[in-house]
Amino acid sequence: MIHPTTNQTLDTQPLQCEEDRGEPLDLAGKHLVLGLSGGIACYKSAELCRALIKAGATVQVVMTEAAGQFITPVTMQALSGRPVYTSQWDSRPAGGVANSMAHINLSREADAILIAPCSADFLAKLAHGRADDLLSLMCLARPLDKVPLLLAPAMNREMYAHPATQRNLAQLQADGATVLGVGTGFQACGETGDGRMLEPEQLLEDMIAFFAPKVLAGQRVLVTAGPTYEAIDPVRGITNLSSGKMGFAIARAAREAGAEVTLVAGPVSLSTPRGVIRIDVKSAQNMLEAVVSLAPAASVFIATAAVADWRPAAPSQQKIKKDGSGQAPSLTFAENVDILATVAQSAAGQSGVLFCVGFAAESHDLHENAQAKRLRKKVPLLVGNIGPDTFGQDHNALLLVDAHGSTALPRASKLFLARRLVREIATRIKGTSANAQATT
Ligand code: CTP
Repeated sequence: MIHPTTNQTLDTQPLQCEEDRGEPLDLAGKHLVLGLSGGIACYKSAELCRALIKAGATVQVVMTEAAGQFITPVTMQALSGRPVYTSQWDSRPAGGVANSMAHINLSREADAILIAPCSADFLAKLAHGRADDLLSLMCLARPLDKVPLLLAPAMNREMYAHPATQRNLAQLQADGATVLGVGTGFQACGETGDGRMLEPEQLLEDMIAFFAPKVLAGQRVLVTAGPTYEAIDPVRGITNLSSGKMGFAIARAAREAGAEVTLVAGPVSLSTPRGVIRIDVKSAQNMLEAVVSLAPAASVFIATAAVADWRPAAPSQQKIKKDGSGQAPSLTFAENVDILATVAQSAAGQSGVLFCVGFAAESHDLHENAQAKRLRKKVPLLVGNIGPDTFGQDHNALLLVDAHGSTALPRASKLFLARRLVREIATRIKGTSANAQATT
């Protein structure tokens, strides 16, 4: 379909869910063993099981005897749609094999084993290679090179902080396990601190990231996102309709791809992607200061923020009052510094040490405007989109413009597009020790 104002071929179908659009589910084709050891956090594992399945995985649940004190195998069987295994003496066929060796068969077919919750006791058991129940037996018997082990610890804060637990966690990491971390906050025991099991949606995000190809490993990515807010007086200001969703999706996708990611966010109400460092700013000036201080440590800069072009030149320190004359106050504006152009035209930006990517929110003539903007800002890659078609929405269509031409990415979810864009960036910076770039 041709866009009415840009003449670009863009898919502007009404919004559909990811499955309808043919976007693969995040864990499609993955078979996971979800292991539950004993802890009150078992109640979250029911939700986690559902979330993993909703994301496309098949889930085989294995529970310790202690886990059975907190949640029943029947619940987990109903949610996973598979019989739950709890005992090494269980003679039912497992993994389609009737040799009474569930500890072998269940792990052989798995793409990963996730223990959630992983209690302090179970950590200790794993760290010592003990194998006196089905779950620990299965972890020990898994092929180390083929079946990764991921752990979501859950315990009281004192148990978590105890040197023995920390020693066991370090040992398990040295043995190749991935420790997904813990949450902080109110605990079932009434105390507050580190040791809560991560929330199901956080664990899901971590599992998806775990399987993502690490095409940006070793890169340090700096992203700007959202609108800026330019004060008129202490209670009023000027902003725009940017939701920040595209920038947040890019930060998440870059993190999934193995980069260290810092996100400089204007005023938005979005949760921070897992593993991303977030710096909240308000005005374009705040955003410029944050970016200029962070850019020297970055190897990729992606400017998705809808930075206000102008700010009130002299914001009032006090609320501007109506004076009853019917006369509106007149505002004069000053132009904000162009953050992207400032960074892209720095020595690092021009030498290619810092690969800079700009966005262009246009209302018409997308290709021409995007190409002109790319040359004006001196960036190797500029991503065009139609602002009114995407601001605040979960979907977008992109036009990638570089020195060689343009590539259209049809309308899809912002996360799907962000992952495509990350792959495009990785391809462009691949194979160059310094990120070589062409700006003409
Ligand atoms: N940008 C920036 N700092 C500004 C203005 C824009 O970093 N003060 C960045 C945006 O984050 C985006 C790119 O520049 O990556 C283009 O932004 P856009 O608003 O599309 O263009 P403008 O430069 O504002 O140009 P115009 O409004 O004339 O289209």
